[in-house]
Amino acid sequence: MQKKYDEYYKPAEDTLFLADSIQNEKGSTALDIGTGSGFLARILSGKFEFVVATDINFRALKKAHEIVENCICCNAADTLNCNFDLVVCNLPYLPSKEIADTAVDGLTDGLGVTTNIIKSASKVVRRNGKLVYLTSSLANYQELVRRTENLGFSVKIIAKKSLFFEELILVECVKL
Ligand SMILES: C[S@@+](CC[C@H](N)C(=O)[O-])C[C@H]1O[C@@H](n2cnc3c(N)ncnc32)[C@H](O)[C@@H]1O
Repeated sequence: MQKKYDEYYKPAEDTLFLADSIQNEKGSTALDIGTGSGFLARILSGKFEFVVATDINFRALKKAHEIVENCICCNAADTLNCNFDLVVCNLPYLPSKEIADTAVDGLTDGLGVTTNIIKSASKVVRRNGKLVYLTSSLANYQELVRRTENLGFSVKIIAKKSLFFEELILVECVKL
């Protein structure tokens, strides 16, 4: 059953892992897809001139808007008509039969939602710009990497972090 959108994803181990990887990034424009509480977008706001945060969960966006200026409720980057130097996304990667919780459920092999998001993101990353996303050993991340390459990116796994029951996987993609 679809949960009511009355909750948002609170910053967790995965959020902090991705946050570490963007500490040294800077530039003109950045986008945080699936911003949740706005934690990552807030970090980007100190390093980029113009930052946009999107989420499909309106209640999450209301929370994010307490700390981030430009919040848009939409699927991934679908409503955006501009290019970004950096796009980040802490993906909802858990394999699931349905989307009961948008924060974590990723459909079959954890690929359904993530492929949709990365496809959308690929249209707004500028040439030589970067997409950084976080996935997990619980998902078919090798297939996700392959699909990302097919969308015109050069892809590298830049870090892994072992947790009790999974390995977090940080992926950096440069638009060719
Ligand atoms: C794992 S949470 C990450 C939240 C936050 N970025 C963080 O790192 O703490 C994933 C977020 O993606 C959002 N999301 C899921 N599917 C989405 C979609 N198709 N478009 C935009 N946001 C989506 C969820 O509502 C949720 O806020």
